Amino acid sequence: MKKKLRIAVLISGRGSNLQAIIDSIEKEEIEAEIAIVISNKADASGLVRAEKHGLKTLFVDPERFATREKYEGEIAANLKKEGVELVCLAGYMLLVTPYFVNQFRNRIINIHPALLPSFPGVGSQKKAINYGVKISGVTVHFVDEGCDTGPIILQEPVKVYDDDTEETLTGRILEKEHQVYSKAISLFAQGKLQVEGRRVRILP
Ligand code: GRF
Repeated sequence: MKKKLRIAVLISGRGSNLQAIIDSIEKEEIEAEIAIVISNKADASGLVRAEKHGLKTLFVDPERFATREKYEGEIAANLKKEGVELVCLAGYMLLVTPYFVNQFRNRIINIHPALLPSFPGVGSQKKAINYGVKISGVTVHFVDEGCDTGPIILQEPVKVYDDDTEETLTGRILEKEHQVYSKAISLFAQGKLQVEGRRVRILP
């Protein structure tokens, strides 16, 4: 039997994307297994979701470490111990440092609730509404040293309606996130993503 890709999911809160990944794995839509779920917040409800599915969880408190690199060193050590091959950031609210990116080059991915390079950082849905764009969406990308700047794997549009509020747009984008993140992880698991500079080629 083919060895399954071992993934880690890093979260800070609700974990609805984590849940979507768990569901896709259970439905065998992704050929991977979640080796560990790590949170930087003790009360992240995503940790409870993970435990319900019998997954290994870990809370690493950034406050316990003198520097961000030392904190990430602890995370990296756990990821290596668990044989993690892909790190999925899913609502993980800390920027990763160049140290961490170098440890897992082209093996860290993130989901962002906008069509990058528009509206990076936090509050993208509100920024999209305030700007007046007619189309926003979802981006899954590899993580590099910048904030939401890494090579783009998949994007899907979501229409912005005249009567949208931040809440309604966020809800529709989130539904799309749940589909797109699983699709991107599945492509990675099948070895179909080839990074060439800024471009990610999806192999047939
Ligand atoms: C999502 O909108 C994700 O794109 C953003 O943070 C949110 C996390 O939601 N980075 P959840 O914790 O997965 O429910």
